[in-house]
Amino acid sequence: MAGNASIPHGRAAYNARTIARGSRQLCLKGSKRLSAPVVTERTAGAVPRMDSTVSGERRQRVFSGIQPSGNFHIGNYLGAIRNWVTQQALYENMFCIVDLHALSLPTTPDALRRNTQSLANILLASGLDPQQSIIFIQSDVREHAELCWLLNSVTQFGELRRMTQFKDKGGGQDEGVSAALFVYPVLQAADILLYDTDLVPVGEDQKQHIELTRDAASRFNARYGTTFVLPKPDIKPEGARIMALDDPTVKMSKSAASPNNYIALSDDADTIRRKVRRAVTDSGSDVTAGPDKPALTNLLTIFGLFTSQSISSVEEQYAGKGYGAFKTDLAEVVVDALSPIQQRLAELEANPTAARDVLTAGADRAREQASAKMAHVRERMGLGL
Ligand code: AMP
Ligand code: TRP
Repeated sequence: MAGNASIPHGRAAYNARTIARGSRQLCLKGSKRLSAPVVTERTAGAVPRMDSTVSGERRQRVFSGIQPSGNFHIGNYLGAIRNWVTQQALYENMFCIVDLHALSLPTTPDALRRNTQSLANILLASGLDPQQSIIFIQSDVREHAELCWLLNSVTQFGELRRMTQFKDKGGGQDEGVSAALFVYPVLQAADILLYDTDLVPVGEDQKQHIELTRDAASRFNARYGTTFVLPKPDIKPEGARIMALDDPTVKMSKSAASPNNYIALSDDADTIRRKVRRAVTDSGSDVTAGPDKPALTNLLTIFGLFTSQSISSVEEQYAGKGYGAFKTDLAEVVVDALSPIQQRLAELEANPTAARDVLTAGADRAREQASAKMAHVRERMGLGL
């Protein structure tokens, strides 16, 4: 089966530089953009940057976060992480394991610690490069929680109540869910605004939270003077919403009741083959995408993204071949794509301090920026004497 062009293949020892070089090559091969996009004070629009290090031109700043809540799946990978990896050479990047967000749903200290370590390993195994990106744990930088409280004062109860993620995860049981689930988007806004972020690469489900972040920042800027950069979501047209294998009308989700909903990054080859074989298909037998074929559209999207092909070229390959042949090959595509990541993951799991060292160094760098920003914010708001 065709190998996977998007992921560098097997190596004896984990080597972040090599992985990053592989991703950069892919990124340049796949796009015409050969130099990093820059922002000038003019193109940044009405919101000039507030720190004094800026003079004329700078690289755009990227920030994204992911919750350590287990069952990391190919939807997370294709919708978010893979884009972080392929773009990391172009931007100034910060990637954050948002453990404070994970407290919004019930968890235990052991599970949280285990999930944080395993997500850190996954991020590194997927190709995030500490030389090009600051990778850190949210709770290691206290300023996130502090700014969240301050931003609560410029966020409206009504706009939080309208967030679809709150409605979905709360399941309409407002009385019983944590207040943290309600305030969750304000903490996310704090994550983003602390670092003068320009771009937030995420899946489609996060668009509403980025809009709320912009609204809170605008309100703050209007009340206290321009302080925050207004960030933009970076949502790719394909892969931003990978659907569940057992129900193509809902998104692939970590918290799904059935493991047949998702392919976890840690699933072994036989599990992947079984899940793909069982994946729901549409009526008919043509391997084509379209609004009347949500299941095939999803499977073709996964195939196309993992092999760096357009959906139409995959459709051509399978013209007249039927669902069976397509699914057999799709399973091998996913197995091949995940195998080098899984190999690196096994190496990292055998050496847990590797990720911990990266995260400690990352938090030190993040803290430096965050504390400077918070000093400015406190002063703007009139806090302290
Ligand atoms: P979460 O698992 O909610 O912490 O999400 C981490 C990242 O993965 C976010 O950028 C999400 O938008 C993205 N994501 C989650 N589920 C999917 C999915 N089914 N398809 C595409 N992206 C997703
Ligand atoms: N809410 C995001 C999710 O569920 C995770 C997240 C937290 C995030 N803080 C962020 C994403 C800041 C982007 C930027 O996927």
